[in-house]
Amino acid sequence: MDRIRIVGGHRLNGTIPISGAKNATLPLMIASLLTDEPLILENVPRLADVILLQRILGNHGVDLMIAGKRADTDPNSGRTIHLSAKQIVDTTAPYDMVSRMRASFWVVAPLLARMGEAKVSLPGGCAIGTRPVDLLIMALEKLGADIEIESGYVVAQAKRGLRGGRIEFPKVTVGGTHVALMAAALARGTTEIENAAREPEVSDVADCLNKMGAKISGAGTSRIVVEGVEKLHGATHSVLPDRIETGTYAMAVAMTGGDVVLQNARPELLMTALDVIRKAGATVTSTNEGIRIARNGSGIEPVEVTTEPFPGFPTDLQAQLMALVTRAKGTSHITETIFENRFMHVQELARLGARIRLYGDTATIEGVSRLRGAPVMATDLRASVSLVIAALAAEGETMVNRVYHLDRGFEKLEAKLNACGAQIERLSA
Ligand code: EPZ
Repeated sequence: MDRIRIVGGHRLNGTIPISGAKNATLPLMIASLLTDEPLILENVPRLADVILLQRILGNHGVDLMIAGKRADTDPNSGRTIHLSAKQIVDTTAPYDMVSRMRASFWVVAPLLARMGEAKVSLPGGCAIGTRPVDLLIMALEKLGADIEIESGYVVAQAKRGLRGGRIEFPKVTVGGTHVALMAAALARGTTEIENAAREPEVSDVADCLNKMGAKISGAGTSRIVVEGVEKLHGATHSVLPDRIETGTYAMAVAMTGGDVVLQNARPELLMTALDVIRKAGATVTSTNEGIRIARNGSGIEPVEVTTEPFPGFPTDLQAQLMALVTRAKGTSHITETIFENRFMHVQELARLGARIRLYGDTATIEGVSRLRGAPVMATDLRASVSLVIAALAAEGETMVNRVYHLDRGFEKLEAKLNACGAQIERLSA
């Protein structure tokens, strides 16, 4: 298994191109199942999750073509993929695929909406929490689907098609909102989605569906209305930049010190996180190219943060922030409210010399003046990059094991950091 070796203590200076968002790319690719015409997605990141989803969609009959790059194309720009679900040949999504990437469960919505049936494996457990799909099932039932759970599979039927309805989510769910949008787009009549997720990735999916002929209004707010249409057509859509990748590199610069431009980044996608990074002592400036992050001379300040659905502080930046404040001049508190088991990085950060105590869903981080390199273990996608951030500032060498977690969500991480002066290399087994 690949490992990453980092020698810490180097400031970061230069430019980092931000890739397309993983958490928009996955639902957008799944939306290609809603039409028999080609959906062209631009700015698609090269990630393990994207490659796995390509295979899963292929199983359902999606033809996929990756557009070659013209010589003059910016090497850092994402890929363009053409997805064509001319004919859906299979409405079953098997356990061995869905269990490897939870988001693939969302295929249940377009399969059901277009074909009137879907058999999709339950995703199973996850390192960061139980992560049930009861609210996704509830949403489809509100649109008239008959759903049974049989041998670990969700078996959904809507022989006479889905019909519009009122979906009120008792808690904000990003996946639930994606599923409700995709299903309602082809349902007969009007659907109201209350307490919808307001994440930018939800708005990006709604934008793309509207380009495909859907009638969605209110995306980005907590109340979305969908007028169902009979058929959707092809479209071209560019994936929005990854706000979690943006926040991750911003915290890496705040951690090591330095001055970096995050190219293509859009500040409005992560305002709350940028405010926290400012409070922690870095300067954050919007530029024509993107966002400029710098910390020179001043130390790292402690912060008080609680994770929340958008526009609150994202749970997907919680681990990275914890790494940053391990070297703060004082004590920070971070409360995780979205996932019940998202502190797996705490013990690994402690191996680098961090002082962190957990009380229920709150971590108390007592800043230390220095971290020291050590072998550590990645446990999930965001936890793994928090170890990279800590290692960049630690004295000596750190070896991060199980980096396959990183490849799921960070494109060209070593190259991007090395280009800014880090000393990081991948060691293949
Ligand atoms: C999406 O997951 C993201 N994944 C997650 O990013 C992100 O952490 C999460 O939203 C929250 O922002 C993708 O976009 C692929 P939820 P999702 O439904 O949709 C509970 C990463 O690191 N819930 O908003 O699965 C659930 O257990 C990943 O890129 C139910 O109880 O998250 C959680 O506590 C990790 N029943 C809360 O709601 C349901 O039916 C929010 O989950 C659905 C969710």
